[in-house]
Amino acid sequence: MSILYNDHNRRFHLSTKKTSYIIEISEDGYLTHLHWGRKIRNFGSSQLLELRERCSFSANPDASKPILSLDTLPQEYPSYGNTDLRNPAFIVQLENGSTITDLKYVSHEILKGKPTLAGLPSTYVECVDEAETLEITMEDSLIGLKVILTYTVFEDHNVITRSARFANEGNEKLKILRALSISVDFNRNDYKFLHLAGSWARERHVEIDSLSTGRKSIDSRRGASSHQHNPFIALLSSEANEDNGEVYGFSLIYSGNFLAEAEIDQYQTTRVSMGINPFDFTWLLEKGEVFQTPEVVMVYSNEGIGDMSRTYHKLYRTRLCRGEYRDKTRPVLVNNWEATYFNFNAEKIEDIAKVGRELGIELFVLDDGWFGKRDSDNCSLGDWVVDKNKLPAGLDDLAKRVNNLGLKFGLWFEPEMISPNSDLYRKHPDWCIHVPNRNRSQARKQLILDLSREDVCQYIIKAISDVLKSAPIAYVKWDMNRNMTEVGSALLNAERQRETAHRYMLGLYRVLEAITSAFPHVLFESCSGGGGRFDPGMLYYMPQTWTSDDSDAIERLKIQYGTSIVYPTSTMGAHVSAVPNHQVERVTSLKTRADVAMSGNFGYELDLTKFTEEEKKEVAKQIEQYKSIRELIQFGDMYRILSPFEGNDTAWMYVSEDKNEAFIVYVQTLAIPNPPMKRLRLKGLDPNKEYLLEEQLNTIIGGDELMYLGLNIPEIRGDFKSITWKLKSVGL
Ligand code: DGJ
Repeated sequence: MSILYNDHNRRFHLSTKKTSYIIEISEDGYLTHLHWGRKIRNFGSSQLLELRERCSFSANPDASKPILSLDTLPQEYPSYGNTDLRNPAFIVQLENGSTITDLKYVSHEILKGKPTLAGLPSTYVECVDEAETLEITMEDSLIGLKVILTYTVFEDHNVITRSARFANEGNEKLKILRALSISVDFNRNDYKFLHLAGSWARERHVEIDSLSTGRKSIDSRRGASSHQHNPFIALLSSEANEDNGEVYGFSLIYSGNFLAEAEIDQYQTTRVSMGINPFDFTWLLEKGEVFQTPEVVMVYSNEGIGDMSRTYHKLYRTRLCRGEYRDKTRPVLVNNWEATYFNFNAEKIEDIAKVGRELGIELFVLDDGWFGKRDSDNCSLGDWVVDKNKLPAGLDDLAKRVNNLGLKFGLWFEPEMISPNSDLYRKHPDWCIHVPNRNRSQARKQLILDLSREDVCQYIIKAISDVLKSAPIAYVKWDMNRNMTEVGSALLNAERQRETAHRYMLGLYRVLEAITSAFPHVLFESCSGGGGRFDPGMLYYMPQTWTSDDSDAIERLKIQYGTSIVYPTSTMGAHVSAVPNHQVERVTSLKTRADVAMSGNFGYELDLTKFTEEEKKEVAKQIEQYKSIRELIQFGDMYRILSPFEGNDTAWMYVSEDKNEAFIVYVQTLAIPNPPMKRLRLKGLDPNKEYLLEEQLNTIIGGDELMYLGLNIPEIRGDFKSITWKLKSVGL
């Protein structure tokens, strides 16, 4: 039993294998937070909550009880206006204009398994024994507002998920102004704040900031989770590092506007809040209606950032990603984007695919430019009809020709967009997100379809399904290349205009559910100008994401390292591209490019026909090598060893679950004259096993030696050089 309720002291004890989370219902019905952290066996008699009278500036809801102020009470889901003056978890406006609420405990239920979240992506169980769920119903009895707080405990995974559901059971219209998914109060303030920040082409760089009294937040107001901030934060205790110390991770399963914040108050406590961004958001809750917030996946570890990451990796790989490809190794692909951009025809595609076959490539992906009159990015989005000038015999013919070469065929779409220069826009100028009489600002000469509208969603489902039915398409790259501006919908009334961005996400999720379940054999990869929507929400529908438009091997070290803080390797697309690199013009060797790209779903994104015979031999070997280790890389445990954010060297490794195999990647960014001798201390191996170093035949080294003394790194000359090692335990 991972959820226990003690009626005597009114405490809930949620426990995983290694962690405890304790909630108490106070005498006055407030839901107080007592502990989240290392597992504690029994809380029965301990005095976890000390109530003390504080200064008069922290008001008391009950005048006869000066020891109680919500301003100082650690709470599970704080209301606004009833004495807690820190960040509230939610704000609801009544018909009389007031925004004061007062939620009290009403009842609770403990369920086996995990219910789904209506309309939203979430983690799931495959059998009810995998998790238990606690639903606590809180109520503001004056207005009939119920808030159901949901906690699911994945005992074996060491994970707790949370969300909140609002139900208007009163007699008046309520307007939600803020509805976060979680609020967690910590009784300390000595934390650092880890987040993943960036921009287009340099996504998810690790930043660790110190916290001080006040608020530190990250958010997105862009209508997508964004390149700039990932919907993830972690609090790190002051001593925490990659392998040791307490860390608390918060990951939001949502692809739109979000807020994540840590607030340190006057009494040195820290409140973490996370959920849909309240900025430019409201939601009208009519009588009888329900509003569900997205889910936050919370991971505590006292074994450092690395252990937290592996916990997320395993859960997201097995209980967030879905579909046929969840447990299947991913194909080696070639994508024609950086090879041809818009300038291709059927012969060119077939030529690239022919070389692909020689090299061992398994999937050809036809990127942007195959439809409408799309010779540049200034038109045709929305017109999902093949361009007969480029592909006179159509998609079916091309896909079959590629299939006949022994490669599967994949196709690019950007379904959520509309070009002003398109037949679709000429027919339906109101179908884009816009505000009447305002400019419709373009980005990459395109506008965004209004997915808050059901007719638009149905159009997308039909248009994309028709293409997928028309040819043997085994893979889809689902792209999205701009952020929202002038946010509004032609179909929503004034009171609901500020619901547009969230309704868009709900529409997108409906569309994705419909298309991915209608085509269960297709491998879907999401993309948003690279990693502009690399988030758990998208991974629920599509088990992999194009990590970044920056495919330079050295830039990719930071991007892939940062991405791995939360997301498993099997979710990251990584390709070898041409040199000089198209994003930064850096020249790196084919080996380094492949060594880095192999730490993901491997592929090539260049014109294979331009390879010399010597390069072809090298590439064929790379592909053969990747195929022999891809299961280990895509599904093994990842250990980060050296961070590109901290020095000139980067290293990480993958270890199979049985610890019999490992693959290590090391990259030195710049050459160093007269360098020191270096050893790489490996991680995650079995200290009692002997490992054969495949690169140096007959070299057998103990797991203990490899981890405690390290692997010798030979001298490397030249910039941007990499080494990989493969270990196999002896006796296999
Ligand atoms: C942005 C993507 O990230 C690229 O990989 C490519 O598909 C282009 N869009 C095509 O327009």
